[in-house]
Amino acid sequence: MSISKTVNSIEKRLQIERLLGATQIVAPSAGSDVVKGLTQTPKSLPACYFYDDRGSELFEQICELPEYYVTRTETAILQQCAGEIVKITGACELIELGSGNSTKTRILLDAYQELGYPLHYLPIDVCAGILETSAKQLLGDYPSLQVYALAGTYELALAQLLPTQLPTRMICFIGSTLGNLTSDECNVFFSQITNALQVGEYFLLGIDLRKPKHILEPAYNDNQGVTGAFNLNMLEHLNHRFEGNFDTTQFEHWAFYNEIEHQIEMHLRSLRSQSVELRALNLKVNFALGETILTEISRKFDLNTIQQQLTAQGLLPLHVWTDRNQWFGLLLCQLQA
Ligand code: AVJ
Repeated sequence: MSISKTVNSIEKRLQIERLLGATQIVAPSAGSDVVKGLTQTPKSLPACYFYDDRGSELFEQICELPEYYVTRTETAILQQCAGEIVKITGACELIELGSGNSTKTRILLDAYQELGYPLHYLPIDVCAGILETSAKQLLGDYPSLQVYALAGTYELALAQLLPTQLPTRMICFIGSTLGNLTSDECNVFFSQITNALQVGEYFLLGIDLRKPKHILEPAYNDNQGVTGAFNLNMLEHLNHRFEGNFDTTQFEHWAFYNEIEHQIEMHLRSLRSQSVELRALNLKVNFALGETILTEISRKFDLNTIQQQLTAQGLLPLHVWTDRNQWFGLLLCQLQA
């Protein structure tokens, strides 16, 4: 087959739609979450601003770090249980929230392909760049795959899912991205999931579990400084997106495990007293020496509690898989009537 033919058929199998909140969309309302976070005390920023093209690339590097057990552990579980998942769901459209480079999703696609099921994939990510790159790679590798990608926030994407042509659907939220949400935000999120699904459809959830501090803290303070670069890149992203003048040499990465809240907290700490402007947002922010911005929480879950929470929301856990250290959990849930 000639190259142009291959490209052609890839384009026929690819649709990308950009919603508000995607990296390439500039809308008047964009950035109100930034203004809100930077004008409150203590300061915070939404974790979704990590993921511009550079941030998505740095996150891929994090996933490969020796200290970052998360991705490796979940990948091993998925390899173990993908066949079982496919047997339970049968032919199924895969919708993925925060799809990134879709590496782990390939394990599921392989398992559906092996049983001869049609492959329909709907990746959703705030980063339009990585969405397009990974969709094209997937289409090259899976000749029967159809991709309908949505660039934007989960909330908007979930609210506008179209009915599937396949018998059922599964929303995949793997990688423990749920950990970025506070417990209140989790409940809102679960109700967005139940609203998006039909009775009988599936929700696949991957969550990082509680474990000792001496394992957790190095995972967010790696020796090579990739996590620090990832954290600081959020400021570069804001500079670029909202005409800002953050000087990243005047902030430092700070991450620790809060054992009371069972969460990693990632901050950026101001190395001097300084003021920063984001011209597109008409915002000027003052920082005291040592003042911090909370850029991310990464909650660590208890398997029993999360199962109860899901059940209470009508998302019945059918199966729970974990690794032998119980470091990570994967739950396949089904929406009840
Ligand atoms: C993508 C939210 C699961 O919390 O472990 C990795 C992001 N931040 N290192 C996590 C992250 C710093 C990651 N999640």
